[in-house]
Amino acid sequence: MPELRTVILAAGKGTRMKSDVPKVLHLVLGKPIIQYVLDVAKGVGSLKNYVVLGHQAEMVRAVVGSECDYVEQTELLGTADAVKRTKNLLKNFNGNVLILCGDTPLLDKKVVKLLVNVHNRTKAVCTFLTAILRDPHGYGRVIRNEKNAAIAIREHKDATAEEKKINEINVGVYCVKSKELFAALDKVGMNAKKKEFYLTDIIAFFLNQGLKVQTLVTEDPDVGLGVNTREHLAMVGLKMRDKIIKYWMEEGVTIMDPTTTFIAPDVTIGRDTLIRPFTFIENNVKLGARCVVGPFARFRPGTRIGNNVDIGNFTEINNSSMDDGCFMKHFSYLGDATLGKNVNIGCGTVTANFDGVKKNSTKIGDGAFIGSDSILVAPVTVGRGALTAAGSVVTSGTKVPPGYAAVGVPARLRKRKSL
Ligand code: UD1
Ligand code: CA
Repeated sequence: MPELRTVILAAGKGTRMKSDVPKVLHLVLGKPIIQYVLDVAKGVGSLKNYVVLGHQAEMVRAVVGSECDYVEQTELLGTADAVKRTKNLLKNFNGNVLILCGDTPLLDKKVVKLLVNVHNRTKAVCTFLTAILRDPHGYGRVIRNEKNAAIAIREHKDATAEEKKINEINVGVYCVKSKELFAALDKVGMNAKKKEFYLTDIIAFFLNQGLKVQTLVTEDPDVGLGVNTREHLAMVGLKMRDKIIKYWMEEGVTIMDPTTTFIAPDVTIGRDTLIRPFTFIENNVKLGARCVVGPFARFRPGTRIGNNVDIGNFTEINNSSMDDGCFMKHFSYLGDATLGKNVNIGCGTVTANFDGVKKNSTKIGDGAFIGSDSILVAPVTVGRGALTAAGSVVTSGTKVPPGYAAVGVPARLRKRKSL
């Protein structure tokens, strides 16, 4: 298979977001929109990815970093011009160029993979993704001839009344042979109405040259949904939420109420874990198998939960790990804590991990028992099988030795009575 490289168009202003943050950096379930698109590119085997930036380029670079290359489009002269900015970088490239938009987080790896496969199999010069929409308003329409072959993409603004009735739209995902792409881009003229160079004009150009253009109709029109407004952002966020929840249910996780459960994209969850309503699982969280969590539980980034862990209502766990068999059933907070196996966190426990300047960590050994309403002012170590009594305040720097109890305010250490 020919090598694949990707160009992601993200120079647009995103005016309708009314934001000081570039559109592609807005978050969908805690992850920047453009990151989803980059993940798709990587997921279909694109080894080099170029992002075309214009507006607030520096901010995008700062967030996305060095996992892709950047090119700048200083003047927004249209999608054809945006792709052309990569010409120098791709001049010796002989493979396929995948073109994606930076604002479509629901784009699916499977669909794009299929598109690339169709492209290679049919030996087309260009293959692009289409969708049938009930309301195609605003999109470029796919014009087909009597043999049902796609012959052009007509932008909404340029379409006749008759063409506007066409429901098949251009999603904005293209796979094009590199040499032919840049040859075509050199020939694309400026659209008189919009004073822009349209990437979509390459379709008619290829056909005039007698070159083969192929289309793939996506079954799920949502994959092409772009975020242009805050309303879109919310809608796409909910669709993403549904997609992720469906995935985990298929993987054997029970989710009692999908409409009040939020699971970020970069999460793993083991089989037979039960998630009760109003649970938030943020990015970079691992939940083991056979856990029971929620209702009203929040897992923040960097959290690792083992198997058979029970985490109940009004709980927050941030950047912490809990080994197998731990319990934390009611209103408690753990931050920067490392727990061994079978630890019991009594209700109302708080790790006071922030001293106003920096975060401090708490370590709790296997089988330790943290009594209700304990405050652990980090850094604190609670040894194996040790105990903190209900209502105790374990002050910063304390090491409760294995088998000892910390009792009172401030907590004093004494040998734990045998269990
Ligand atoms: C484009 C397509 C349209 C398609 C629609 C799908 C063209 C001419 N039209 O229309 O057929 O149905 O997408 O959503 O391509 N961008 C740049 N530089 C520019 C202009 C745009 O990088 O100079 C980027 C934008 O940031 C965006 C993408 O290209 O990510 C698409 O641009 P946009 O202006 O939204 O195109 P549409 O008019 O929606
Ligand atoms: Ca758009």
